Amino acid sequence: MPWVDQVRQLFDRAGAPMTFRLDRQADYEHFVAGVQLTDILTDLSADLAQCHLLLPQEALGSFPGAGSDLSRGHWSPAAAVLIRELTALARRWVTKPVITRGMHPGAAIVLDAAAGLMRAQLDAVDAAGPALLQRAPRPSVVARIRVLVPARFRSAMAWSLTPLTVPGPRPTAAATADPSPAADDTGLRPPPPHPDVTRPPPQIAADQMPSYVAVIMDGNGRWAEQRGLSRSDGHRAGILALRETVYGALDIGLRNLTLYAFSTENWKRDPEEIAVILSAFQYELDEGPIRDLDVRQRWAGQSGRLPEELVQALTRQERRTRARTGMTLTVCINYGGRDEITRTAAALARATRAGEVNPDHIGPDDFTRHLPHPDMPDVDLLWRTGNEQRTSNFLPWHATYAELYFTPGYWPDVDRRDLWQAITEYSRRQRRHGAVPAPLASPENHLPSPHVQPDPCPLTRSSSE
Ligand code: IPE
Ligand code: IPE
Ligand code: MG
Repeated sequence: MPWVDQVRQLFDRAGAPMTFRLDRQADYEHFVAGVQLTDILTDLSADLAQCHLLLPQEALGSFPGAGSDLSRGHWSPAAAVLIRELTALARRWVTKPVITRGMHPGAAIVLDAAAGLMRAQLDAVDAAGPALLQRAPRPSVVARIRVLVPARFRSAMAWSLTPLTVPGPRPTAAATADPSPAADDTGLRPPPPHPDVTRPPPQIAADQMPSYVAVIMDGNGRWAEQRGLSRSDGHRAGILALRETVYGALDIGLRNLTLYAFSTENWKRDPEEIAVILSAFQYELDEGPIRDLDVRQRWAGQSGRLPEELVQALTRQERRTRARTGMTLTVCINYGGRDEITRTAAALARATRAGEVNPDHIGPDDFTRHLPHPDMPDVDLLWRTGNEQRTSNFLPWHATYAELYFTPGYWPDVDRRDLWQAITEYSRRQRRHGAVPAPLASPENHLPSPHVQPDPCPLTRSSSE
């Protein structure tokens, strides 16, 4: 979908908008659904490895047993028929030449060629058979050439017969009157500036900068109660603080930010409050301004009792943003640390039973490889707002050596400066990971200053304080 957006923008700028006729809306929607289904079928093995089965519910209902077979990694006859039916359906959906009617021929050829490549992809899915559960199938070079060479030829003809003016460079943000910079060619926007923040984020030396900050966003309810508002109002206000934190993280160049949004224990709350929390996150991540930032979104947690719509939105955003490189934002929804550890232990037990892991030699790295997100790094800084000093079942595996930082204010009062302050505080800490710190470079640094009382507990203080 990001690719389609880019192509559409390019054609818009060239004065040949890729407009879809309204009377073709249903065909267009089918085409998009076909693109998504092709993508889901292609990535089946990667999604199953993360315990997600994203195939449409209606299809799973029509083939009893096929869904659970696939979830168990078992290529049964029912699973094979289900996949064959779905590839056939996706093929029908992406074969919709009528949606290109009325478009500039150049744009129509781009879309037709994309549909041709998707059909080649679906052929590869069909041909993969049980290997579909091991790796993503790819069409052969020959299959791609068969689509691309004639498309290139037809498009050269189309452009020579109906040329367009090549779009000039996009005006820079400074040159336009619009205060919010326009989206760039990739459709991504930089974070907007904070209205009251005139100073740039603090300069933190690269080796003192955390790579990964995880935040327990606590205090929405108390913030609202203090103001005579409902807890739901507190959660809505908390979303604005989340946005600010993401902006601040991009401003300061943080690589990984993980936010605790809803825990496996939060189901104990009133259903109405739960519904507000979940729908606020769904809206924010799927349709709010974060979706257009250079942020790769990920979700950690169990689908379990979450509304199907929310799970679809979270996985859709993961797919849409997976090529983005600015920062990785992991949102923990229906997440519990013990649940994560239990699932990982079960995955490790299955691998042991299958003979893939020797139980006598299991080490921490084996455990990490079987986590739902094996590539998630260790947390450098764990920050909790809301005046509580506990971790509430958050990231027990990843945060064993995190620096802890607790602040008294409630989450909705947070803005990007608070994140910068947290990072500044982190940069002053000395991390040892069990080792003895190396001696300081210059000998005079060892001498206590004549004006400073000797620190009664030097090991608890940072070297730079
Ligand atoms: C954190 O705020 C948000 C979630 C747990 C979803 P709380 O709702 O826990 O707010 P307090 O702690 O009751 O003030
Ligand atoms: C932790 O906050 C969970 C989230 C912020 C999502 P809680 O408010 O649920 O934690 P406890 O109950 O105070 O430990
Ligand atoms: Mg709380």
